[in-house]
Amino acid sequence: MPIWILFLCLFGRGVAEDFPSLITANASIAVVLDHQFLQDQFQTVTDELKDHIKELARVKLKHGGVMVHYYSWTAINLKKGFLAVFSVASCEDTWSLFKRVQDEQILLFALTEVDCPRLPTDLAITVTSSSAGEELSQMILDLRTERAFNWKSAILLHDDTLSRDMISRVVQAMTSQIDDEKVPSVSVTVFKMRHEVNEYLRRKEMYRVISRLPVKYIGENFLAIVTTETMTTMAETARDVHMSHTLAQWLYIVSDTNQRTGNLSTLINDLFEGENIAYIYNKTDDGAHCKNGIICYSKEMMDAFISALDSAVQEEFDIAAQVSDEEWEAIRPDKVQRRDMLLKHMQQHITAYSKCGNCSSWQALAADTWGATYRRHTDSVISNKEDDNVTTLIENVDLLQVGFWRPIDGFKFSDVLFPHIKHGFRGKELPVLTYHNPPWTILQSNASGSIVSYGGLLFDIVGQFAKSKNFTIRIVLPGHIKEESSNETSTDMMHSTSAKFTLAAVSKGKVALAAAAFTILSDPPPGINYTIPVSIQPYSFMIARPRELSRALLFLLPFTTDTWLCLALAVILMGPTLYIIHRLSPFYDAEEITREGGLSTIHNCLWYVYGALLQQGGMYLPRADSGRLVVGTWWIVVLVVVTTYSGNLVAFLTFPKLEIPVTTLRELLQNSATYTWSINKGSYLEMQLKNSDEPKYVSLLKGAELSTSSNGMEANNIAGTKYLDRVRNERHVVIDWKLRLNYLKRADTAATDSCDFVLSSEEFMEERVAMIVPADSPYLPVINKEINRMQKAGLITKWLSAYLPKRDRCWQTSSMASEVNNHTVNLSDMQGSFFVLFLGVFSAFTILLSEWFYNRRKRRNDQIVIKPYME
Ligand SMILES: *[C@@H]1O[C@H](CO)[C@@H](O)[C@H](O)[C@H]1NC(C)=O
Ligand SMILES: *[C@@H]1O[C@H](CO)[C@@H](O)[C@H](O)[C@H]1NC(C)=O
Ligand SMILES: *[C@@H]1O[C@H](CO)[C@@H](O)[C@H](O)[C@H]1NC(C)=O
Ligand SMILES: *[C@@H]1O[C@H](CO)[C@@H](O)[C@H](O)[C@H]1NC(C)=O
Ligand SMILES: *[C@@H]1O[C@H](CO)[C@@H](O)[C@H](O)[C@H]1NC(C)=O
Ligand SMILES: *[C@@H]1O[C@H](CO)[C@@H](O)[C@H](O)[C@H]1NC(C)=O
Ligand SMILES: *[C@@H]1O[C@H](CO)[C@@H](O)[C@H](O)[C@H]1NC(C)=O
Ligand SMILES: *[C@@H]1O[C@H](CO)[C@@H](O)[C@H](O)[C@H]1NC(C)=O
Ligand SMILES: *[C@@H]1O[C@H](CO)[C@@H](O)[C@H](O)[C@H]1NC(C)=O
Ligand SMILES: *[C@@H]1O[C@H](CO)[C@@H](O)[C@H](O)[C@H]1NC(C)=O
Repeated sequence: MPIWILFLCLFGRGVAEDFPSLITANASIAVVLDHQFLQDQFQTVTDELKDHIKELARVKLKHGGVMVHYYSWTAINLKKGFLAVFSVASCEDTWSLFKRVQDEQILLFALTEVDCPRLPTDLAITVTSSSAGEELSQMILDLRTERAFNWKSAILLHDDTLSRDMISRVVQAMTSQIDDEKVPSVSVTVFKMRHEVNEYLRRKEMYRVISRLPVKYIGENFLAIVTTETMTTMAETARDVHMSHTLAQWLYIVSDTNQRTGNLSTLINDLFEGENIAYIYNKTDDGAHCKNGIICYSKEMMDAFISALDSAVQEEFDIAAQVSDEEWEAIRPDKVQRRDMLLKHMQQHITAYSKCGNCSSWQALAADTWGATYRRHTDSVISNKEDDNVTTLIENVDLLQVGFWRPIDGFKFSDVLFPHIKHGFRGKELPVLTYHNPPWTILQSNASGSIVSYGGLLFDIVGQFAKSKNFTIRIVLPGHIKEESSNETSTDMMHSTSAKFTLAAVSKGKVALAAAAFTILSDPPPGINYTIPVSIQPYSFMIARPRELSRALLFLLPFTTDTWLCLALAVILMGPTLYIIHRLSPFYDAEEITREGGLSTIHNCLWYVYGALLQQGGMYLPRADSGRLVVGTWWIVVLVVVTTYSGNLVAFLTFPKLEIPVTTLRELLQNSATYTWSINKGSYLEMQLKNSDEPKYVSLLKGAELSTSSNGMEANNIAGTKYLDRVRNERHVVIDWKLRLNYLKRADTAATDSCDFVLSSEEFMEERVAMIVPADSPYLPVINKEINRMQKAGLITKWLSAYLPKRDRCWQTSSMASEVNNHTVNLSDMQGSFFVLFLGVFSAFTILLSEWFYNRRKRRNDQIVIKPYME
C-alpha cells in the first residue's frame, strides 16, 4: 500500500503538474512585449493587445479558458508550464528566447524586426514587420532560410533600383551567419550597372560588365536586382556571351512591377533551351485598404493562436469522451505532439485568413526550359526530307508559378525555384536517335518491325543519365531503316548509311542526343559535337593460331642436323679406325692368337661400331688393350649420345613444338614475306596511318590490302567465312579493333568448335568512341559531367564487360598446357619409327633381290665359262 502511494506521488503528480491536459487545466501563455524594442509604442500595444485577448477569450474560445501572463522583457522564467510564448522583441532577443524555449518544448510565435532570419518553420512562427518598399533584403534572407537555392557563391548584379543602404542590407542578408547550421552563408560579388535610358548605351554598358565577369572564380549563380527593361537587356546579353547555360543559374528580382502591371509573362520575350532562369517580381498592391503595423500582426497571431487552442481543446474533449480515463492518460498527446499540432493549425490559419501586410506580395516564377523544344517532334522516325533546322528557341514559354512571398509568413513554395537544377528535365520526353550497332546499341524488333527493346552500352549510359536527370527516352530511328534489314552491322561506324543519316539529323538539331557510337575525329563533321569518350578501343590484329609442327620426323628432332652428320661421320670413321688398330696390333703375333671372326674385316668393324651405337654388342671383342681402348671409349661416347637422345625425345614427345608466333607489329613487318594483311578501307585506322610518319606505321600501310568488303566481319555469311578461311590457311592477318576481332574469334569458335585464331599481344592506335549531340546543344556539359561520373564510379567498364565475349577455352594463348600432363604417345608421334622400319625392311628386300640377282648372274657366268670345256 505505501509503495503504491509513493509511486502515484512520484509519477502521477509529476505528469499532472508539469504537463496538464487541456481538459483538466486552463492553458496559460506568456506574452512578452519587450519594452526596449517597442519603445514609445509599448503602452499602446500592451493596451490594445490586452483588450483584444480578453475579447477573443470571451468570443472565440468556446472551451475552457486561457491564462495570460504579460512580461515586458524577454528574460523570463519558462518553467511555469506555459503552453506557448508570444514575443515581440528584437531579432537577437527572439533567437535567444527561441533557444531557451526549445529546451522546454514550448511553442514560440514571434514578431520581430525586419532583416531577421526566420526561426525554423517546423518549430516556431516568425513574423517580420517591415514597411512597404523595404522588404527586399528580408525576402532574400527568406530565400536563403527556405533554401530555395543551394549556392555557395553568388554574383549580385544591380542597377539603380537598389539604394546604397539597400545594397549593404541585401549583401548582409546573403552573407550573414545564421544559427541554423543547415543554412550556409553565400559569398557575394557585387557589380553595379549604370542605368542608361538609351537602349543602345544600356546594352553596351551591360556587355561591358557581364563579359568581364570572372565566372571561373566567382561561380555562375547570378542574382540580378533590376528593373524590367534592364532584365530584358541583361538576359539577351548573357545569352550573347554564353553565360546563360545549363550550369548557370539566373535569379531576376524585378521590383518595378505592381499589382496592376500584373503578369510578368508578357514581359519575358525569349527563352532558350537549357537555361535556368527564375523570376521574383513585385506584385504589391498599393491601395488604401492595406493594413500593416505591429498591432495588426500581433492581433492576427493571437487570433491564430486562440483558434488553434480552441480546436486543440475540442479535439482532446472529443477523444477523452470516447475512451476511459486510464486509456486517455495513455494516449493523450505529449508536449511535442501538442506543440506541433498547435503550430500547424496556426500556420494554416495565417495562410488562409491573414490580411496584415497582404498587400505587399511578390510572385516567384520559374522558366520551364529544359526539353521544351523537343515537344514539337513526336514522330518515331525522322526522315531527312524536311529541311528546317530546329533552333533552341522555345516557342511556347512555360512559366511555372512556384511560390509567393508576403511579410507575415515569408515564402510559400509550391515547387522549387530552379526546377531543372533539382529535377533535371522534370520527367519530359527526349528524342534519342539510335540504330542497331552492337555492342554499343542493340535493338530488337518484333515480327512487324517495331522496336520492342533496346540495350547495349550506350543505352546503359543514356538510361543512367535519364534516371539522374529525370527524363524519359523516346527512341527515334533513322528513316531508311525500315526498308533495310535492321541487322545492318557495318564494321565502320563512320560510313554506314545509318551513321550518315544520324549525322545529318543530329546536325539539324532534331534530336537531343544520338545514342550511337562515333569515332572522335580531330575535325568533326559540321553541326555536331562529341561527348567525352565513353570507350577507348585499341587496334590489334588477328592471326591463325600457331600450329604444331608435323611429328612425322619426331625421332630426328632431338638432334640437330649437324649433330646427326657428326654422328654418322663418327660411325663411319670409327669402323676403319678400329680395324686398323686391331690389324696393326703386334699383340696377336706375340701371343700367337689368330685374329678370327668379327673384327678381321673392315666391313665387320663398321657393323660392329654401328651395333655398339645401338647398344647391341658384337660377338667378338679385341683381345689387345689397344683395340679394347678404342671399343671402350666408343662405348662411353655411345652412352652419352644415347642418354641425351632418349631424354630429349621424351621432352619432344610431351611438349609439342609450335610455329614461332607473330604477336607484335614489328614481328609482322619482319615476316612480311610470309604474311599478308588487310585494313578496312576508309577506316579511322587507315586515316591515322596515312597521317603518321612513324616508319613502322608507314610500312604497315604500304604492305596492307585495303579491304572494301565492309561486311567481311560477319562470321556467319559466306564472304566472311571465306575471309576467315584466308586467315586460317593462307597466312593472312586482319587488323581491326580488338573488340571486333574478339567477337569474330568467338563467332568462329561457336561455328567450328575450334580455336583457330589468336590476337596480337600488342595493341596500337587507340580509337575514341563517343556519342554525338547537336553543336548548339546546351546539354553537352551536363552529359559530359554525368558520363564522367559514371566513368569514375567504374560503371561504364562494368557495363561494357557484360557485352564483351566471355573468357572461353580459346582465351589462353596456349591451350596445350592442359595436354602436357596427360599426353599419351599416339600414332602420329610414332609414325616416324614405323617409317624407318619400313624403309629398313624395304632396303633389306632390295638388297636381298640384288644379292639374288648377283648370285644368279655369277653362277650363269661360271656356267658360260665352263661350257666350251664341256664340248
Ligand atoms: C478556466 O477559465 C474559465 C474562464 O476563463 C474559468 O471560468 C475557469 O474557472 C478556469 N478554470 C480553472 C481550472 O482555472
Ligand atoms: C513594389 O511595388 C510597390 C508598388 O508599386 C512599391 O511601392 C514598392 O516600393 C515596390 N517594392 C520595391 C522593393 O521596390
Ligand atoms: C499571365 O499571362 C499569361 C498569358 O499572357 C496567362 O496564360 C497566365 O495565366 C497569366 N498568369 C497569371 C497569374 O495571371
Ligand atoms: C493575400 O494575398 C494572397 C496573394 O496575393 C492571396 O492569395 C490571398 O487570398 C490574400 N488573402 C487575403 C485574406 O486577402
Ligand atoms: C541548317 O544548319 C546547317 C548547319 O548548322 C546549315 O549548314 C544549314 O544552312 C541550315 N539550314 C537551314 C535551312 O537553316
Ligand atoms: C522528376 O520530375 C517530376 C516533375 O517535376 C518530379 O515530380 C519528380 O520528383 C522528379 N523526380 C526526380 C527523381 O527528381
Ligand atoms: C510489335 O510491336 C508493336 C508495338 O509494341 C505491336 O503493335 C505489334 O502488334 C507487334 N507485332 C507483332 C507481330 O508482335
Ligand atoms: C537479325 O539478327 C537476329 C539475331 O542476331 C536474327 O535472329 C534475325 O533473323 C536477324 N534479322 C534479319 C532481318 O536479318
Ligand atoms: C562544339 O562544336 C563547335 C564546332 O562545331 C565548337 O566550336 C565548340 O567548341 C564545341 N563545343 C564543345 C563544348 O566542345
Ligand atoms: C587426363 O586424362 C584423364 C582421362 O582421360 C582426364 O580425366 C583428366 O581430366 C585429364 N587431365 C588433364 C589435366 O587434362
